[in-house]
Amino acid sequence: MKQPQQLLFVCQNLRDAADPRGSCMARGSREVLERLKRCRAELGAQEAVRVMGSTCQGACESGITVLAVDDAGARFYGRMTPALAESLLRARAAGTAEEPALALRRLPRADLLDLSALEGEGGELQATQATQETQGREGEGA
Ligand code: FES
Repeated sequence: MKQPQQLLFVCQNLRDAADPRGSCMARGSREVLERLKRCRAELGAQEAVRVMGSTCQGACESGITVLAVDDAGARFYGRMTPALAESLLRARAAGTAEEPALALRRLPRADLLDLSALEGEGGELQATQATQETQGREGEGA
């Protein structure tokens, strides 16, 4: 069996509802994982693309998070939806450019909680909430 060309990890971590970080599972990451598995099967890409659930990826406030790994490296995406995840898989399986909405959801290596790219693209509310939550925790000395 050959190594897959693409690895897609979808965070499946679930936290208590009272935890201010939230969790990807509570935001619907199971649906993202299931959509990816269905899409991969439809494309017949089971050998080329491996789709897996993962533990927390450390970017909880940005969830649902997906980590995509290939020969070019690793790339984190935040605020993923089933439709965006399918788009990501299709682009990676075909070796084509990802749609602009995905580029906006890439999380910078230096700060996996930086959602500034989403501002003005329908992500204002979520990005603002994540920033406020992060600032609130910093103020608490957490
Ligand atoms: S809960 Fe998903 S990245 Fe932490």
